[in-house]
Amino acid sequence: MSKPRVLLLGAPGAGKGTQSSRISDEFGVDHITTGDALRANKGMDISELGFEFDTPGGFMDAGELVPDEVVNEIVVTALDNADGFVLDGYPRNIEQAEFLDERTDLDAVLRLAVSEEELVDRLTGRRVCPECGENYHVEFDQPEESGVCDECGAELTQREDDTEETVRERLRVFAENTEPVIDHYAGTEAYAEIDGEGTPDEVWEDVQEAIEQRA
Ligand code: AP5
Repeated sequence: MSKPRVLLLGAPGAGKGTQSSRISDEFGVDHITTGDALRANKGMDISELGFEFDTPGGFMDAGELVPDEVVNEIVVTALDNADGFVLDGYPRNIEQAEFLDERTDLDAVLRLAVSEEELVDRLTGRRVCPECGENYHVEFDQPEESGVCDECGAELTQREDDTEETVRERLRVFAENTEPVIDHYAGTEAYAEIDGEGTPDEVWEDVQEAIEQRA
């Protein structure tokens, strides 16, 4: 059996990163995440493109989308090297979805549905390890020692775009740009909506079952 090609859709904080890691481990596929790739290249000089900000970091800290030219390039390179994948954080607008459709088929397109207030709680309470990338939450997923990563012992930090003001802007950008992407895939055989409000283990049961039914 060939490895599954999975697209995970959902608002900021819906649990895409959390569930993508599990999909990657369970099915042995690449985790392609534009957010992490862009964070690793936050200071890249994109001034020649003539947009409002000269680096990806400028767009990200404001909660806006990074230009398609930059993001599409990241995804093409990653797809070319992948034997099965889970895509997390892409596509985020219709232009990116059309770009993706021309390059690959998808076995499963899963939308994680979570209410807005829950999203705000999750994101403003998220803490991340700057060394190994592990995610925590001040209430739902605390490290053993307060403020310290269980995996590598580094001091946990808050993502710059996880302040309440920027989170609200990210949710606005999601409603405007990414809700149409969900409509674009809804109704296809690959599509399923998953209740994302249970515990990570409960959500994982539904995610795993939906992939196994489609792959
Ligand atoms: P990106 O890094 O992709 O962020 P996002 O989509 O806003 O998603 P998050 O990573 O914040 O949330 P998530 O859904 O992965 O949730 P997580 O599992 O971490 O993008 C950041 C920025 O990069 C964008 O704003 C944009 O500027 C740019 N960008 C990225 N892709 C782009 C693109 N394609 N085009 C243009 N620009 C792009 O969970 C969140 C928290 O909730 C954690 O604390 C976790 O522990 C907790 N949690 C998870 N699941 C549960 C659960 N079931 N119950 C309780 N808590 C839970």
